[in-house]
Amino acid sequence: MLPEISRSVVKNSLVLALFAAVTVAVVAITQQTTATRIAEAQRQAQVRALGEILPTHSYDNALLDNVIYLNESLLGHRKETPAYLASLNGQPAAVILQVNAPDGYSGTIQLLVGIMRDGTLSGVRVIQHKETPGLGDQIELAKSPWIKSFTGKSLSNPQERGWAVKKDQGDFDQFAGATITPRAVVTAVHKALQYFDHHHAELFAPLTPAEANP
Ligand SMILES: Cc1cc2nc3c(=O)[nH]c(=O)nc-3n(C[C@H](O)[C@H](O)[C@H](O)COP(=O)(O)O)c2cc1C
Repeated sequence: MLPEISRSVVKNSLVLALFAAVTVAVVAITQQTTATRIAEAQRQAQVRALGEILPTHSYDNALLDNVIYLNESLLGHRKETPAYLASLNGQPAAVILQVNAPDGYSGTIQLLVGIMRDGTLSGVRVIQHKETPGLGDQIELAKSPWIKSFTGKSLSNPQERGWAVKKDQGDFDQFAGATITPRAVVTAVHKALQYFDHHHAELFAPLTPAEANP
């Protein structure tokens, strides 16, 4: 028989242990639910960004399920980086390359560059940067339509020397008091087109039936 005081200690310990176990379970479940929600929100944001770059009628596959990984110095990669393959009726239609412009004013600028099968740019969007608000941040569509000036351009339109900002005798506008940021973006998009020119046969190899109808 335990004395009265020992029984009380055991009882309190059990209550505390139960309380701790319930708390741990609640925290674990909340964390799991939040992580799932965050992952889903990130996926939706990615789908939106990819959808902005390619006209919806130009592809009919799920871009996030048709990913290849590239590690290309020409594209500014330092690790395996996703590229998204778009197809229409089972045939390759476009590719969206994730590209790093390493020479922004405040570091690397991350871009998505959509290129149609014929080599024309379907769109470019900045997905991450640290450029200065009011100066370099005009590369964001929310701040300025400048990024849309790439749509419809290709490696031969403009010619080689046109792939620069106007201050460098090229075709693309710079921003008032901010040349470094747009210069970095124009150079990175030009390199993406050069990469595409050299590799489009591999990127657009016909899909196997399993890939075309996953
Ligand atoms: C605080 C500060 C922030 C700046 N931020 C940017 C920027 O985000 N992007 C940019 O292109 N230039 C920025 N500039 C201006 C550049 O230093 C540079 O003067 C401008 O890009 C013109 O470059 P250029 O002389 O090569 O034509 C910034 C300057 C200062 C003082």
